[in-house]
Amino acid sequence: MAEKPVAIITGGSRGIGKGIALKLAELGYNIVINYASNKEAAEETKQQIPSLSVECATQQADISSNRDRQSIKELTRDTFGRCDLLVNNAGVAPLARADILEATEESFERVLNINLKGPYFLTQSIANWMIEQKKRFPDRAFRIINISSISAYTSSPSRGEYCVSKAGISMMTALYADRLAEYGIVVFEVRPGIIATDMTSTVKEKYDKLIAEGLTPIKRWGEPEDVGKAVAAIAEGRLDFCTGQIINVDGGFHLKRL
Ligand SMILES: NC(=O)c1ccc[n+]([C@@H]2O[C@H](COP(=O)([O-])OP(=O)(O)OC[C@H]3O[C@@H](n4cnc5c(N)ncnc54)[C@H](OP(=O)(O)O)[C@@H]3O)[C@@H](O)[C@H]2O)c1
Repeated sequence: MAEKPVAIITGGSRGIGKGIALKLAELGYNIVINYASNKEAAEETKQQIPSLSVECATQQADISSNRDRQSIKELTRDTFGRCDLLVNNAGVAPLARADILEATEESFERVLNINLKGPYFLTQSIANWMIEQKKRFPDRAFRIINISSISAYTSSPSRGEYCVSKAGISMMTALYADRLAEYGIVVFEVRPGIIATDMTSTVKEKYDKLIAEGLTPIKRWGEPEDVGKAVAAIAEGRLDFCTGQIINVDGGFHLKRL
């Protein structure tokens, strides 16, 4: 059984998930990188991790599928024998932005299945395993971190299904923080703002302009590493009495200003 703590990062192959994986590896976590289909990106991230003196396993799995979610747990159990930290990061934007008066049920179901149902039931599955582990190893710390978005509370009527999915992640965080406290498992929401990844590459010019005009008090794009650092602060255990807390990683976007 691995002596080092183990972190599962969904969507850990690229973008924000990769930023998180690299920071957790620096902290000494063995890493399980889940991805949907881009094996090349997952292997490239994996190759960067041994230089940090930890081990890394990759697992293709669609988090919206029950069977695939079980495969993430089985791979982690078979490879490392433990899971100390789950980071629910994988998520998608709608395939096409569409006005809420026109948008389809098909897109709603796709986005909600991946962004909310997937993490909701992966958390259920991993939390039950963490409860078992806590009974056997009471001195170990177990944590769950959900990556939501400023879209949890910011209206974008051209991608309503995405906003609804992220608002759901906020409530999911509260529910699991409440339910798992008695087992010593803490749960957090990390809420990124505008972060430079493939997801935002299609709207780069729009956000370049908005940021330059002062949309965020800190006038720059966020980087995956910014989110990785916030996750690392939680993973180090410095916030363990703050279960249920929301960490805004948004350059101050959430501030109300006059
Ligand atoms: N970028 C932003 O500005 C921003 C802001 C706020 C919140 N977020 C949130 O942060 C998270 C990461 O976003 P990102 O910008 O890093 O996205 P990204 O660059 O598009 O990367 C998405 C990651 O999720 C994986 N993924 C997608 N669908 C999946 C599925 N069904 N099952 C398993 N893995 C899946 C992808 O795997 P493949 O590589 O195989 O496709 C990839 O690793 C998302 O939850 C997103 O909503 C992003």
